[in-house]
Amino acid sequence: MSGGHSTYNPQSGLGRWMDARLPLPRLIYDSFVAYPVPRNLNYAYTFGGILTLMLVAQILTGVVLAMHYAANTEIAFLSVEKIMRDVNSGWLLRYLHANGASMFFVAVYIHIFRGLYYGSYKAPRELLWILGCIIYLLMMATAFMGYVLPWGQMSFWGATVITGFFTAIPLVGTWIQELLLGGFAVDNPTLNRFFSLHYLLPFMIAGVVVLHVWALHVTGQTNPTGIEVKSKTDTVRFTPYATVKDGFAMVLFLILFAYFVFYIPNYLGHADNYIEADPLNTPAHIVPEWYFLPFYAILRAITFNIGPIDSKLGGVLAMFGAIAVLFVVPWLDTSKVRSAVYRPWYKLFFWLFVVDAIFLGWLGSRPAEGIYVAMAQVATLYYFAFFLVVMPVLGLIETPRRLPNSITEAVLEKNKAGAASTPQPAE
Ligand code: HEM
Repeated sequence: MSGGHSTYNPQSGLGRWMDARLPLPRLIYDSFVAYPVPRNLNYAYTFGGILTLMLVAQILTGVVLAMHYAANTEIAFLSVEKIMRDVNSGWLLRYLHANGASMFFVAVYIHIFRGLYYGSYKAPRELLWILGCIIYLLMMATAFMGYVLPWGQMSFWGATVITGFFTAIPLVGTWIQELLLGGFAVDNPTLNRFFSLHYLLPFMIAGVVVLHVWALHVTGQTNPTGIEVKSKTDTVRFTPYATVKDGFAMVLFLILFAYFVFYIPNYLGHADNYIEADPLNTPAHIVPEWYFLPFYAILRAITFNIGPIDSKLGGVLAMFGAIAVLFVVPWLDTSKVRSAVYRPWYKLFFWLFVVDAIFLGWLGSRPAEGIYVAMAQVATLYYFAFFLVVMPVLGLIETPRRLPNSITEAVLEKNKAGAASTPQPAE
């Protein structure tokens, strides 16, 4: 994963012995100590590290929770209550894991939006981006299955609704649904396979993260200017510069995380999930977790048939399409300039997209009726237009701002501008 020629020079006998047999310390040194990173990275670039931390935290808390959890519909709900009341620090483990999932999604959304803003997906980083999209898909599958495990009302009915989407797919839909459920309805076989997969997928995510970081170390990081590294003066060593900055950002992020865990641990959950699953009693509103809400709004926005496609299938296609479109972003953006910093119009459309995504999330939590449906339709239209119209067309017609010649020039210009506007002390 090194950025080129290795400068590792083991000082001790043991170090040299190890280096000749399994040069793991060399790999770590080249990748996370001497590795050159652009000198102008801002805090938006710390979320990859934060995501790594959150993945480790989820795996650790999850493995211990699994020691006490029982994947059986008769006792699953009770086993979670036992964790909360009887297991030593069980309440902490569970709140860390449940809120950790939300914080993981907060971080991944910031990470994705950062990529869209700075054009991180552009050549030669297409594969790096696609690996990220795969991680995101795996994260969504993991979170969805995890939410079913406590066997509360939302667990049961959420699983029923989501697996029901698949029946809209012609010919194979019902077969896929039954495969997911392990039967004709959400029941014990469903809970068992969801538990098994919920345990497996995070390790697959970890595997894809290794590929993601490997690809990153081949191409190198982008930076806010979008200009590639040209000389040594454009970079600094990963350690201490990036490690300290990432570490500081992690501490701030953990403070926010701790606030949720210790002060409002149930704020992001749904009260109905403290009621045991009851197949004979449907809750008034079935809502997914907050991080799925924008896609839920898109699903419900399609209330009309499109030619031979009925509204149900149309909704499912729109929802999956909203995620699928991310995979082709590197080929949709036609601009020669990478970063939004130098693209005034793209910047405007980008921020509108951020507002649109948040708005869709809010609409996903509202009942699918009246004005909410109309608003969701407009917001869905903009969601797709951003990728399919703005990205390809704007790149061809927009006049970008003047680009600096190098990262160093951009940094020095900024410092000069800052110094000029700093008030001078009176004589
Ligand atoms: C478990 C989830 C993930 C982990 C642990 C992770 C990890 C990382 C790390 C450590 C970096 C370098 C530091 C940084 O730029 O923040 C990075 C960069 C990057 N990630 Fe991720 N990532 C994850 C998910 C994603 C997703 C979902 C996407 C996109 C859909 C994505 C796209 C990218 C891109 C394009 C870069 C390069 C950024 C640049 O140099 O401009 N990542 N990732």
